[in-house]
Amino acid sequence: VSEISRVKNLNRIQMGRHLVETWYFSPYPAEHAHVPILYVCEFCLSYFGSAASYARHRHKCTLTHPPGNEIYRKDNLSFFEIDGRKQKTYCRNLCLLSKCFLDHKTLFYDVDPFLFYLMTVTDASGSHLVGYFSKEKESAEGYNLACILTLPQHQRKGYGRLLIQFSYELSKIEKRVGSPEKPLSDLGLLGYRAYWTEVMVEYLLANAETTLDELSQATAITIGDIQHTLHALGALRYYKGQHVICLSDKVIETHERNRAKARVNIDPACLDWKPPV
Ligand code: COA
Ligand code: NA
Repeated sequence: VSEISRVKNLNRIQMGRHLVETWYFSPYPAEHAHVPILYVCEFCLSYFGSAASYARHRHKCTLTHPPGNEIYRKDNLSFFEIDGRKQKTYCRNLCLLSKCFLDHKTLFYDVDPFLFYLMTVTDASGSHLVGYFSKEKESAEGYNLACILTLPQHQRKGYGRLLIQFSYELSKIEKRVGSPEKPLSDLGLLGYRAYWTEVMVEYLLANAETTLDELSQATAITIGDIQHTLHALGALRYYKGQHVICLSDKVIETHERNRAKARVNIDPACLDWKPPV
C-alpha cells in the first residue's frame, strides 16, 4: 500500500438516516475509496458507491438485525454475538467501517480469531447498530476486549459505557479478570477511566474494609487497571508505613453527581451466554 493511499480517503458515509464524516483512512477497495459519499447498509454493512446501487440493495436486503445470536435483550437494547469465522463478510465490512474512526489499530482482515459483540437499539424498522466491541477467542495477554467503537452519530450518549460494562459482565461469567487491549486511543482511555472510576468508587463506598484483590475479583478489573485508576484519582496514600486508598471529597461528589443521572445499566439477568468452548 503506497503512502498516498493511506491518506484519509473517504469523506462521508451514509448509514441509515445518518450522514457522518469519517476520521481516518480505511482500506475500502479502490473503486469505492474516492466517491463523495459511501453508502453503507446499516443491517448487512455492505457498501455502495452510489445512491442508486444502494437503493437497489435496500430493496433486496432482508436483514433487520446483525447476523448472529442475540445473547442479551432488555427493553430496546440487544447484544448479538457474531463469530468472525462464520460471518467473514459481515465482520470484514464491520472492520472497514470501524477503521474510519480508529487511528492506530491495524485492521484485521483475519477476523477468524475474534468474536464480535454488536449492540443494537430496536425500533419498528429493526435492530439498529449503535456500537460494538471485538474480543479474541483466546487472548494470551488476558484481554477481554480488542477494539471498541460507538458509531460517531451515537457517541456521548452512554453507549460506550454500556459496551465496556458488557465486556466485564462476560469476564465475570468466565470467572476471569480482563483488560482492554493496549494501546487505547485517547477516547478509549477517557471511556475506560470513567467506567473504572465509577465501578471502583461504587465498590469502595460500599466496602470500607477491602483489599485490591477483593476489589479486582468483584469487578473483573485487573489490579493493574485498578492501580492506574487510583493513581489517576490521586487516591493512593502512604499512611503509617502502609498504602491506603483514600477518596477525596471531590471524587465522591463527582460520583454522587454521576449516580444522579438516570443511566441504563446492563442487567446480568438478561444475559444468556456461556463462554464458548
Ligand atoms: N471527551 C471527554 N470525555 C469523554 C469523551 C470525550 N469526547 N468521550 C467519552 N468520554 C468519557 C466521559 O467521561 C463519558 O461520560 P459522560 O458522558 O457522562 O461525561 C464517558 O467517557 C462515557 O462516555 P460514553 O457516551 O459512554 O462513550 P461513547 O459512546 O461516546 O464511546 C468510545 C466511547 C471510546 C467507544 C468512542 O469515543 C469511540 O468509539 N471512539 C472511536 C474509536 C476508539 O477510539 N476506540 C477505542 C480504541 S480501540
Ligand atoms: Na482512535
